[in-house]
Amino acid sequence: MGESREIHWWQPETGLDEIQLVQDVIESNYLNDGDVTTRFEQLIAARLDVPYAVAVTSGTTALYLSLMALGIGSGDEVIVPDVTFIATANAVTMTGAKAVLVDVVPEFLSMDPMAFERAISKKTRAVIPVHVSGRGGSLLEVMAVAQKYNLPVVEDAAEALLSRFHGRCLGTFGATGCFSFSPNKTITTGQGGIIVTHDRIIHNRLRELKDQGRPVRGTGGDDVHASIGFNFKLTNLQAAVGLGQITYLDRRIERQKRIYELYRDELQETRGISVFPFNTQEGEVPQWTDALAERRDELDTYLSIQGACCRRYWYPIHTQQPYKEPDDRFPNSTRFIPKAIWLPSAFQLTDDDVRYVCDLIRNFYK
Ligand SMILES: Cc1ncc(COP(=O)(O)O)c(C=O)c1O
Repeated sequence: MGESREIHWWQPETGLDEIQLVQDVIESNYLNDGDVTTRFEQLIAARLDVPYAVAVTSGTTALYLSLMALGIGSGDEVIVPDVTFIATANAVTMTGAKAVLVDVVPEFLSMDPMAFERAISKKTRAVIPVHVSGRGGSLLEVMAVAQKYNLPVVEDAAEALLSRFHGRCLGTFGATGCFSFSPNKTITTGQGGIIVTHDRIIHNRLRELKDQGRPVRGTGGDDVHASIGFNFKLTNLQAAVGLGQITYLDRRIERQKRIYELYRDELQETRGISVFPFNTQEGEVPQWTDALAERRDELDTYLSIQGACCRRYWYPIHTQQPYKEPDDRFPNSTRFIPKAIWLPSAFQLTDDDVRYVCDLIRNFYK
């Protein structure tokens, strides 16, 4: 099996393109949100085939501002899956609304559409399906329920940049789609996020919300502040890093698909582990490859001793102190999350690295 190696779960990467683009911004002496931010927004909008994109400070603020743009606040309820990064629930809480947690379907760990329907009350104002690991999962079924009750859908597409599902990009199905550029995403701006939408009115409201109520970029002086807004601007400096990162986007996506396909094929006969499915043929992009593993914690420790780093899934939100609820309301997340793990998925991994990890996994379950 050869000697032990250093295999990253994920590793961000920046290069000379970013250095040059950041240097250009510094030399321009316009470090604030500006033309480079606009260019970044235009490129992302074009890649996702949507008319509008608004760059903001994080994926969390993308979710928060989307809910604000829909007029959601105190006294309202927003339905969120129990399996997601806690930011999804926290974004709801930030608006003053209540995050109502619902269970997930075991096949994809995405929102259970029936649990969603049962959780709808007179106070429900929106639903946030989450594309965990870049998978569309139950999105269409969730959208159908939302449509039946006339509820807007805010997509948490933080992990799903350019992942295609039923012929279009995830994040472009709902009223808005929210993406993250934190360092463990396919492209990063350090921290950062973007909201995409087809709706001009929502777009205009988002621009005001992220910039102190200004409908257009101002001077900081005698500007018109049409409504109440805040400061969630993505700067030219950050957008310069993002523009550099976009140049590697397609190559990274191809690697992420290939890494998943290798794990899927190499481990299909291995009893003890089952890799979650992605439809890479149709353009679904694994942000990271995930699996359900028997004796997960032991496997994780075994792999890490051999230099292969994994990441264990988030605890279900309902087990976290601020959102505590009994386990029996969430039978699927309670049962499956303790087995869920992200395998080493850094786009820098070679085919040989992935095969090495698969050898280790097979050895563990022998
Ligand atoms: C599913 C999900 N939602 C929301 C977020 C929040 O994004 P950010 O960290 O950019 O605020 C993340 C990532 O961090 C995420 O993975």
